[in-house]
Order: sequence, then C-alpha cells, then structure tokens
Amino acid sequence: MAIQATIIADPVPISSSSRISIRGGEQCFGSFVLKTRPRHLRLSNGGRVRARASLNADLKAVGIPHQWYNLVADLSVKPPPPLHPKTFEPVKPEDLSPLFPDELIKQEASTDKVHRYPRRKVSYMIVVAFRAKRLEKLLNTPARIYYKYEGVSPAGSHKPNTAVPQAFYNAQQGIKNVVTETGAGQWGCSLAFACGRWIPSSPGSLGIAISEAVEVAAANADTKYCLGSVLNHVLLHQTVIGEECIKQMEAIGETPDVIIGCTGGGSNFAGLSFPFIREKLNGKINPVIKAVEPAACPSLTKGDMTFIPDPIHSGGLRYHGMAPLISHVYELGFMEAMAIPQIECFQGAIQFARSEGLIPAPEPTHAIAATIREALHCKETGEAKVILMAMCGHGHFDLKSYEKFLQGEMVDLSFDEERIRASLAKVPQVARI
Ligand SMILES: Cc1ncc(COP(=O)(O)O)c(C=O)c1O
Repeated sequence: MAIQATIIADPVPISSSSRISIRGGEQCFGSFVLKTRPRHLRLSNGGRVRARASLNADLKAVGIPHQWYNLVADLSVKPPPPLHPKTFEPVKPEDLSPLFPDELIKQEASTDKVHRYPRRKVSYMIVVAFRAKRLEKLLNTPARIYYKYEGVSPAGSHKPNTAVPQAFYNAQQGIKNVVTETGAGQWGCSLAFACGRWIPSSPGSLGIAISEAVEVAAANADTKYCLGSVLNHVLLHQTVIGEECIKQMEAIGETPDVIIGCTGGGSNFAGLSFPFIREKLNGKINPVIKAVEPAACPSLTKGDMTFIPDPIHSGGLRYHGMAPLISHVYELGFMEAMAIPQIECFQGAIQFARSEGLIPAPEPTHAIAATIREALHCKETGEAKVILMAMCGHGHFDLKSYEKFLQGEMVDLSFDEERIRASLAKVPQVARI
C-alpha cells in the first residue's frame, strides 16, 4: 500500500551518456532586463564593470558563477551531524549510498568552501534580478525593492538549479532511474496523483511521499533518490542564485539592507541568502535576513513536526521539516524567521502581479507579503532601504489557488498551540553531538 502510493508512476530514466543542460550559457532561454542607470563599479574580484541601462547588453561582464558556495566552511560552530533514524548515531556514508550517488554523499558532508561544478555537463542560465519599480510606486514607499526571479527556468522555479546536477551525478554513476516526491508539482510530478489515486481520503504530505520514494530507491540497485530541498547538497547547488545576485547588485551599486525568502525545506532561501551571509560574516555587509513561512505550517517559528499539515495553498511550503543547516544558522542568530497567513500572502501576490506583471507561485507570495510589510514600514519611517526578495517561481501551475482567493473562498488556517505541544512531545530526545 505504502509503495503503491509513491509518485513513481513514471520513474525518470537517465542514460549515462545523456548531456544534461537545463540552464545553459549558449542555450539561454529568453532575455531579461535589469533597468538601471549606467555606473562604473568595482567588483569584489577587483574588476571594473560598466552596468548598462540594460544588463542584457553586458551579461558577460556580470557573469554566471562557476562554483557553488558551502556556508558550513565559514561557520565557526559547525552543524551537528545528521543522525541515523534507528540508532541515533551519526550517519555514515555507507548508510546513504542506497539512496544517493557517491559525489552527492561527498557534497552532503563536505566542509570545503567552494565546489566547482562540471560546467561541460551542468550549465546555468543567467537569471537577472529585477527592480520592482511599479510595486514601489503602488506602495508609495521610499524602499527600493529587488527580486531575483527564478521563474524563468524551464520548470518555472529555482528547482532545476539542483535537479540538473543531481541527475548528472546519478547518471555519471550509471544509475538508470531516480525517484522523488513532490509538493507543489514543481519539483517532482505527482504527489497529488498518488494521494488522489491511492489514498483518496488523505491530503497526503510531502513527508509521506519522501518516505515512499526513499523506500523504492533503497530497494532497487539501479535506482536512487533525488530530493528537491532540505539536504546540504541541494542548498549548495542553489547558492548559484545568491552568488549571481551578489555580482548583479554590485554591478548596479546596490547593497541589500533586507533579504527575504520563503521557506518550505529552505532551498531557495538558502540559495539566495547563504552567499550574502558569507559577506556578512566577512564584515562587508550587514543585511537583515528573513525567512518567511506559512502561519498554518510553521517550522522555524514554532517547531512544527506534525506529519500531515493543514491543506494550505502553498504546497511547497506545506512541509513539516526544515533544512538542518538553516535551523543551525537560525540558532546561531544569523537570520530571522516570521510566519504569515495565506490570505495576506495572496493579497500581496495580487498587488505584485498587477504592478509587476508576473504571477508568483503561492510559495514566494510569503516573501512578497513580508517585502510589502517591510516596504510599508519604510513608508512610515521614511527609510529608503534596499529590499532583496527571492521570487523563486511563477504561479502558472497554481491558478486554481488564485481563483479561490479571488472568489473569496480562501480561509486562513491557524495553527493550534496544543497540537504543536503534542507534536513536540513526540520528538525523541537525543544527546547533543
Ligand atoms: C516555487 C517554489 N518555491 C518554494 C518551494 C519551497 O521549497 P524550498 O523552501 O526548498 O525553496 C517550492 C517547493 O516545491 C517551490 O516549488
């Protein structure tokens, strides 16, 4: 029963000879314009670039990062090791090998600061940050709002940033199939199909789908598991977002005062913020970094661990886990967290869509709502803060949620404190390592 409910209706076949290139320099999809006044600026690598009125004209000068950044290397207090769910002992590489290829296991445990990715196999498309001038005007705020828009990828979100390298490292090791779970539909294909078909009375949960995909991978020698969030190597691959954005912000002479991203498992948030946290640790900048989660499914702000969260409209954030590295960075005090109810998020999304012309996925509506709160606060105080937000995907898969919202059928689900206490009471006590 459990296995039938997995999303492996169509395991993704990969052939070892396939060239995987979703975002490719030469296969750049579309062109994206960052409007700004011309300026000469010094980049951190010592070079000077001239940011043009359209960055399109000079994308090479800004460039694509050729490496991923590993925040663990720069943390003086290292995160505790992951524990084996049965023994509660630190997980060994051989425990992970039924699930992941060797290179990803290495990356998972790595303390190396940078990882150069195999550029002949995995190439990234330039994804430009936009200034949300019309939203600024609508809000009548002195704040300058930028958003890094990852919805231009073929999948419509930041997910290919890690899907491509994961598929590549599996293919390199001769793996024939990969299995996965999906939340909103952006990462995998069919949790909804699986739950609707096999568990009709359950809204399912990402947690259940993950367990089932893991079972399949563990039982088949030619199959491995790919996860779209949470794990260190996923966060590592996503740092291409922040690395690129640092260069883009430098090129137009802006330094973010506030960086905002939504968190499900934490990958788009980490992708944008970790390289900026490195700059913060180096004393170069001092932005406030905020993770935003749904009030109905809180992880960082409440420590939720219920197995089947309420059916909110942001499937990708409807997840009870959080990347351990993000929890660690949060505990170290390098970032803040907040929770916002879904109606406020959709109100913000509509303002964003009407002013900026892009329909956000339900997940980044949380980042948008937090950005609007921040911008309206700037209006009150008169501060011209620079707000940088992760707009991690478009909402074309989720128009049904917009329909519900616009028809007044959406409700805010509040999270019951008693449920949180009961859930937390079930967390096994383990010694701190
Ligand atoms: C567009 C989008 N944003 C955000 C998320 C949440 O994941 P994460 O917190 O890992 O970025 C998802 C997950 O499915 C997603 O599809």
